[in-house]
Amino acid sequence: MFYLCTSIFIPKRVENETIYILAIESSCDDTSAAVLCNDKVISNVVATQKIHEEYGGVVPELASRAHQQNIVPVVHQALLNANIDKKLLSAIAFTRGPGLMGSLLVGTSFAKSLALGLNIPLIEVNHMQAHILAHFISDGQSRIPSFPFLAMTISGGHTQIVKVNDYFDMEILGETLDDAVGEAFDKSAKILGLPYPGGPLVDKYAQLGNPKKFTFPKPKVDGLNFSFSGLKTSILYFIQKETKKNPNFITENRNDICASIQFTIINILMDKLKKAVKETGIKQVAIGGGVSANSGIRNALKNAEKKYGWSTYIPKFEYCTDNAAMIGIVGHHKYQQQLFASQDVTAKARYIIE
Ligand code: KG4
Ligand code: ZN
Repeated sequence: MFYLCTSIFIPKRVENETIYILAIESSCDDTSAAVLCNDKVISNVVATQKIHEEYGGVVPELASRAHQQNIVPVVHQALLNANIDKKLLSAIAFTRGPGLMGSLLVGTSFAKSLALGLNIPLIEVNHMQAHILAHFISDGQSRIPSFPFLAMTISGGHTQIVKVNDYFDMEILGETLDDAVGEAFDKSAKILGLPYPGGPLVDKYAQLGNPKKFTFPKPKVDGLNFSFSGLKTSILYFIQKETKKNPNFITENRNDICASIQFTIINILMDKLKKAVKETGIKQVAIGGGVSANSGIRNALKNAEKKYGWSTYIPKFEYCTDNAAMIGIVGHHKYQQQLFASQDVTAKARYIIE
């Protein structure tokens, strides 16, 4: 059924073919596998590594070892949940980058070996592109954006505003000059003594607090770029100053501090999004990446529909943080366009979208 072309397997095109993609994600600290039937997710298994909690951040070597332990059972479970035989798979898609090299190597090597063993094509996927294209997963309910649209990718490693012209034609309009927004959440949480990853906890407490109780300065950054390191420093100095006066300051004000931090971060993000809409004239706006699970940004985006007349696209919770389903949808579209990788493909820790 397949022929070999400079070590790239290219399947013969069959009209109205049902495409089954097995997708693998291992860029950071989540080992995930998913099976997609065309643009629908039929299974999506995520094993989150708990070991990093005690270290206050992801320890690359431990992440890599945990991926090695998890990958076989996670892929096995994804196939079981999908209730399909490996022999039915059309291709294997995997995260090539960006991410931690030791983590990426596990998924990359596994995907290459499995594709070779099953004699099916291999598809390499850019993780950040996948956070954006997750909006094309069909679930019978969610609206799907049309091109062109703006996507703000907000995760633990990235903060970008991207103009999405087509599935594989994207332009970065702006990005962070230092910390990513997820890091801003996590580092603020650490200052407050919360465990890693602190973003979801800041969100939880923020919902109980007064967002206007404390004021933090917003950075002045040109164009559509971001900066979050100054905010982190000002939060640190503020907490140090207040706890000197009152050692119980954090416990007595936790909800208000979290609400005020979250309010400042969401304002920074929304200011840049408004600027991007104004500059491009594009009013279709999507978000993606772990921080898009945040209640503040989700509400701000929903409100922007009425307030500014935007059409907004907010991922379902299971597709916000790292997952293989989003790798699978990219795999599906690459399969349709016959964009396959060779067995020479290697993991790429820095991998810019284009
Ligand atoms: O996309 P992701 O799972 O991994 C990367 O590619 O980085 O994003 C993880 C980031 C972490 O910084 C985490 O704290 C943040 O997403 N995050 C949140 C929330 N849920 C996850 N930040 C704020 N509020 C949340 N609800
Ligand atoms: Zn991610």
